[in-house]
Amino acid sequence: MPGHASPHADAPSFKHIAPRPLCGALGAEIAGLDLAEPLSDELFAEVEAAFHEYIVLVFPDQQWTPAQQVAFTARFGPVEEHPLRSRAGLPEHPEVLVLVNKPGDRGARNDIWHSDISFSETPPLGSVLYGLQVPEGYGDTMFCNMAAAYAELSPGLQAILRPLKALHSAAGLAARNNAGDNNASPIAQLPAPAEHPVVRTHPGNGRPALYVNPWFTERFSGMTVEESLPLLDFLAKQATRPENVYRHRWRQHDVVMWDNRAAMHYAVRDYDENRIRIMHRTTALGDRPV
Ligand code: OGA
Ligand code: MN
Repeated sequence: MPGHASPHADAPSFKHIAPRPLCGALGAEIAGLDLAEPLSDELFAEVEAAFHEYIVLVFPDQQWTPAQQVAFTARFGPVEEHPLRSRAGLPEHPEVLVLVNKPGDRGARNDIWHSDISFSETPPLGSVLYGLQVPEGYGDTMFCNMAAAYAELSPGLQAILRPLKALHSAAGLAARNNAGDNNASPIAQLPAPAEHPVVRTHPGNGRPALYVNPWFTERFSGMTVEESLPLLDFLAKQATRPENVYRHRWRQHDVVMWDNRAAMHYAVRDYDENRIRIMHRTTALGDRPV
């Protein structure tokens, strides 16, 4: 297997921000920005370039209102409600999902590797998560680099995967939501699965990335679930090797945003209902994956 790619060797240079890489795989912290203020076009262009390069951006010490979070997210793409209303939204801002874990109110489960809403025909290109109240040292979020995961496969397997498509379904989400052991909204009716390329090309930088995930990807198109699972399992295992993962330890008022086109993420569920965790999530709609 080829050695681990050095993803930032040709990183763009920045005039207004100084992204600090968080590990070899992906992720950079950008300090000193106030995201509550509208970003100039020039500043936004640098943040977007950093987003495409590092896939996960961490902005510490942010204080913003839901409207300001929506305004920031909307610079990247249209901000919409969850298509299946999977998590509660704020009454005055239904496009801001509230993730709550508190006594008597067990938080919804995101503890399986996924790319947000990949069962949609046009999944969100990015997600923005604001930590209003975090249980220090618990509830980390993990991210893995799906461009590196693809780049590190052998040319033979890459060639097999490139023409494949896969079906993504919300069945797994419904199963977790409907289990009744957490505060996710039940899902009564499943939309038809969406078909996406197994290897997608990032519109921002042209890099190919694996686009399958254990939560939503049911099978390769034209194959059975049983036939598909061994290879899907292998790809997930490969993508989530420790060397390809950044694990974010939340601080109060962190904003973390990730590129769903080039990452999977996993919400570590190592806390009980007594450790209060409240987050606001917005998503920016992306194009149909190609
Ligand atoms: C999500 C999600 C991660 C977390 O909101 O899509 O996966 O750590 N959240 O809460
Ligand atoms: Mn998620």
